[in-house]
Amino acid sequence: MNTSQSLAERARLVMPGGVSHELRYKTPHPVYFTRAKGAEKWDANGKRYIDFKLGAASQILGHAHPEIAAAVAAQMGRMPYTGDCHPLEVEWAEWLNRLFPSAERVRFTGSGTESTMLALRLGRAHSRRDKVLRIDGHFHGWHDMLIKGAKPGTTTVPSLGVPQAVCDLTVVAPPDLDAIAALLDSDPQIGTVFVEASGANYGSVPLPEGFLQGIRALADQSGHVLIFDEVITGLRWSPGGRQARDGVVPDLTTLAKAVTGGLPGGAVVGKAEIMELLNPGETRDGLSPPVSHKGTFNAAPMVAAGAIKAMEILSAGDVQTHADAMAARLRDGFNAVFGDLEVQALAYGDSSTCHIYFGGTSIDGLDAATIRKTPPAIVKGLRDGLLERGVDFMSFTSCVTGLPHTPDLIDEAVEHFRGTLSALIRGGVLQ
Ligand SMILES: Cc1ncc(COP(=O)(O)O)c(C=O)c1O
Repeated sequence: MNTSQSLAERARLVMPGGVSHELRYKTPHPVYFTRAKGAEKWDANGKRYIDFKLGAASQILGHAHPEIAAAVAAQMGRMPYTGDCHPLEVEWAEWLNRLFPSAERVRFTGSGTESTMLALRLGRAHSRRDKVLRIDGHFHGWHDMLIKGAKPGTTTVPSLGVPQAVCDLTVVAPPDLDAIAALLDSDPQIGTVFVEASGANYGSVPLPEGFLQGIRALADQSGHVLIFDEVITGLRWSPGGRQARDGVVPDLTTLAKAVTGGLPGGAVVGKAEIMELLNPGETRDGLSPPVSHKGTFNAAPMVAAGAIKAMEILSAGDVQTHADAMAARLRDGFNAVFGDLEVQALAYGDSSTCHIYFGGTSIDGLDAATIRKTPPAIVKGLRDGLLERGVDFMSFTSCVTGLPHTPDLIDEAVEHFRGTLSALIRGGVLQ
């Protein structure tokens, strides 16, 4: 029996659906991976894949980067984790302070989801208002407070177990500055505004031109706390994220993935005035610290050691330039395949991403629900066909690139994409 199949059978007996993350679920079963190096990975049967998932966009330097692996191994032998203050967290925070324009202060967290939870708590505490405005389809992790609106075009409670009362505090808006201004005007309880800095799902739904500048101006006028979620864009769009690239500085920024060198963890960075609410030496309303935050593994030394190495490498900017060029080559290759096979589809994307829209040759003027609605048969056919040929995308119809992608790997992947699409056309899945 196929090793992945037998592992999946064991997994289903001890893990719900056999998975640790709902997006890893796959029928008839997921592929199980045992080894990864650079931009390649190998499954439990030894089959090799070109990887455009790169650890859910966390491994921009590629899998098992030798300098990060060495830094983590050395720290493992020296002091993996004691639950104390340590010099590496100071050095890591200083890196973020230099790289991110908004980072006057830094607080480390356990994940991207924890970062957005903490940033929202800070937004509420500073604004003294409970409601948050978030943009349709933007993703900010899986917690109760920002899950409403994560599925494009929906405002219903998206999961059992999420109280309606919590969802009532979340206002979902389209990425339209006039609509947002009207909502902010009409609802005095909104105090915080959350934006995925790329637009929804690392730019699969790009923000309108000037949107970040516009929302900064709106927040300034009305005194709202503006938070950019740069969990994916941070260190990927530029060494200082989208905010440094586009010159728009939020009040708070949420970070994870590349910012930890691809290791578990995250960070919130932002204005001293707001971040100092976390200072246990401060008292407000009789509370010290005014905003409470804990977390056993925040800034764990093993993670900090790898993260500092990643900051050293990523701060120069040439990794991002290379990754962007590889993504452009991938997009061009996919678009050439669409042209050759006469498929009405578009490969597009900012920075080191590539997204595919199967509904036509332009996404101009389309909303998130339309852009993200690829027929399930195409999504499944594409994913299965690519996996069969040894290519793995990040999710559904999106890819990310990184340092270890080479022109040869990109061209090889484009040929597998051509083979997959040809098979889908022959099978009648794609017109
Ligand atoms: C923009 C964004 N914010 C937050 C998160 C949540 O991060 P994590 O999966 O580390 O909890 C993600 C995860 O993909 C993300 O893409």
